[in-house]
Amino acid sequence: MATSAADLATIIEQQEQVFVRRQPESARLADLAARSLAGGVVSSWQISRPQPVWLSHGAGSKLYDVDGNCYVDLHGGYGVSLAGHAHPAVVTAIRAQAERGTHFAQPTETALMVAAELQRRFGLPLWRFANSGTEATMDAVHLMRAITGRDLIIKVEGCYHGHHDSVQVSVCPDDDADDRGPAGAPASVPASTGIPQAITDLTLVVGFNDLAAVRRRLDENEHRVAGMILEPIMMNAGIILPDPGYLAGLKELLHSRGALLAFDEVKTGLTAGPCGATGMTGVTPDIVCLAKAIGGGVAVAAIGGTEDVMSHVANGDYEMVGTFNGNPLAMAACRAMLTEVATPDAYERLEKLRRRAVEGLEQEIERHDLNAQVVSVGAKGCVVFSAGPVRNFRDFLRVRDAYSHAHWLFQHNGGVFLPPWGKIEQWLMSVQHDEADIDRFVANFGTFAAAVGSRRH
Ligand SMILES: Cc1ncc(COP(=O)(O)O)c(C=O)c1O
Repeated sequence: MATSAADLATIIEQQEQVFVRRQPESARLADLAARSLAGGVVSSWQISRPQPVWLSHGAGSKLYDVDGNCYVDLHGGYGVSLAGHAHPAVVTAIRAQAERGTHFAQPTETALMVAAELQRRFGLPLWRFANSGTEATMDAVHLMRAITGRDLIIKVEGCYHGHHDSVQVSVCPDDDADDRGPAGAPASVPASTGIPQAITDLTLVVGFNDLAAVRRRLDENEHRVAGMILEPIMMNAGIILPDPGYLAGLKELLHSRGALLAFDEVKTGLTAGPCGATGMTGVTPDIVCLAKAIGGGVAVAAIGGTEDVMSHVANGDYEMVGTFNGNPLAMAACRAMLTEVATPDAYERLEKLRRRAVEGLEQEIERHDLNAQVVSVGAKGCVVFSAGPVRNFRDFLRVRDAYSHAHWLFQHNGGVFLPPWGKIEQWLMSVQHDEADIDRFVANFGTFAAAVGSRRH
């Protein structure tokens, strides 16, 4: 028997009331903010229901809101906070660099150390830096076009690569009004207003794990496709793992048609493992995009490429520029992150915590007879509220978001901060989390499961 939508709505309403009662100061600041910040927040993804949470500070694995509530941070700043908060190595590095100047727009030696470590981890020889995931994937798309002299790119339905025009296509076409087209040949759906149709039409869309669809797109557009960009592990639709052989198949297929392969490892980067999805799967693409966690909480991105790809940057054919690229403060934080935080010991600890979380959650799912599964990789994971496995965006559409929202509220009211975007997002543990943090997370999940479970949904 299913938990009715009405029951779930009542549970959500009760939890939202608790949420709002605990956060009067956040409500006050949200009201005030409406007068100076568009939409009352600094990025639209900070608008969450029932109200945005205003934070005071972070320390270790914890976050503190302006009402004095303490949370175990599993939000992770949307995939950034692998170091946790105020990690001593990151603080020391930033402080030392701040005392020596924070910006020159000239290279500093730290960039060499960062590049060397990225070479080692991701198996690509040449690197450049930028400031956000959006910039990194924008450069990747430009590069694929510059190198091949072709305009079309292929993108996966349900992947988010930032907010530049070419990839703001079929990001999460979940609205009833969206004309998604058939699963085997998805339509290109603009993800936002302000994206010209002419640019949307240059982005061809395929389903994740569908190699045949990529072949069809290449056949239909012979010598016109510059390359394909994808998250090698999808992390903007819960977590969806690549089928065995899928990524290697893509590389071979694209190369056979003179097209390139770019991995967007902005989210997976250091969080899926020390060498990202690239290291995990053993498939090295032509271009890797990194951002988020590599900066230990400072805005930075990196673009790595093969000798062939980066020769187009080196010889000035493609002008890869940016005032803040390789900024010394960002490089200092990156160096600390790569050499002192994301260490083999840290990954060993994270793996133990991952296992503890997965086992605990799975026990609660079993105990309360929920249609849900835990998907995790490295420091990241999520509970997917569906009866069967999710292999692509069309499967993901069937996951009921109300369960994810209810879960988020139970966690929040119980002192664990997950990312607020329901079924889309996942948890991120940091190197500063401990067993007690994970146990609180699992206990809250148990309370949630007892409220919505014991019945099939
Ligand atoms: C996979 C992926 N790529 C790119 C981006 C864009 O990164 P940024 O927000 O730093 O521009 C994001 C952001 O969430 C992301 O998840």
